[in-house]
Amino acid sequence: MSQPPNNSLRDRDLLSLADLTSGEFHAILDESLALKRRWKEGDRPQLLDNTTIAMIFEKQSLRTRSTFDIAMYQLGGHSVLLSQNYIGWGVRETIRDVAHNLERWVDGIMARTYGHATLTELAEHADVPVINGLSDLLHPCQLLADYLTLKETFGRLDDLTIAFVGDGNNVCNSHVNAATQAGASLRIACPEGFDPNPGVLRAARARGAEISVLRDPREAASGADVLYTDVWISMGHEEESERRRKAFKGYTITPEWFSELSSRGVFMHDLPAHYGEECTEEAVYHERSVVFDQAENRLHAQKGVLVSLLTGTVEA
Ligand code: CP
Ligand code: NVA
Repeated sequence: MSQPPNNSLRDRDLLSLADLTSGEFHAILDESLALKRRWKEGDRPQLLDNTTIAMIFEKQSLRTRSTFDIAMYQLGGHSVLLSQNYIGWGVRETIRDVAHNLERWVDGIMARTYGHATLTELAEHADVPVINGLSDLLHPCQLLADYLTLKETFGRLDDLTIAFVGDGNNVCNSHVNAATQAGASLRIACPEGFDPNPGVLRAARARGAEISVLRDPREAASGADVLYTDVWISMGHEEESERRRKAFKGYTITPEWFSELSSRGVFMHDLPAHYGEECTEEAVYHERSVVFDQAENRLHAQKGVLVSLLTGTVEA
């Protein structure tokens, strides 16, 4: 899908938060917040009446799959679930052919893939918006829900200090992009060899982002407003489990860490959690944790994304 040069988000792809302007990033958050408020007040705007998306999953999902489906339903639209087993893309037929079939039936495609290149190939060929539901490189929809949660928790985003402790993976890379858009300060702590993507980091710094990469997780957490972690062994990395468990020794977040945060500091995790690895169950269920608010906000953030890309009503 080509990107139209106007200030509407209609018909745009969402593969990376870095493709947005800061105004567009905030516009999606504001739309998500407005739709959440309307839902809670009992208002049921059918903004996606007669609208259909396809959802393609190469790997497992609870939150992304459920919330895109529920968001479509609650806004009056419909979703079609396609797993790799159903369509065999790239095997039974090419991604290009899949794109040219789907674009004749649906108004948008959300896809979760292993390789990020699969998503860009899909977006290149599909004449409808393509949304990244997680690739090996990025997880933009997760970070929109997370920043929605931060907006509700703290009000402002640009004075936050966020510590991401763990693997420099897809979630971490999208943290880099989100902090850049919001003007938040980001400290990443990861063992050597598990750094965030250098290209993502370079581009963020070129946009003036305040991002440091440290080797001491406790130093990163010290005084932070947000302590965030993700699994050490992402989907597709299972064969490296032992090497990773060794490398991340000392990175297991327990409630004991929370006393080192700022007085308003919160704990976040995108889920699923691997208890005993990146964090303990006590951390997720601690009073400082906003983990299930994040999960709830996946629904409202998906609504903001869908309305932004599939209707012409959201302008930056
Ligand atoms: N956080 C997240 O994307 O969860 P799922 O993998 O369950 O979709
Ligand atoms: N980094 C994790 C995120 C899951 C939502 C993974 O890719 O498996």
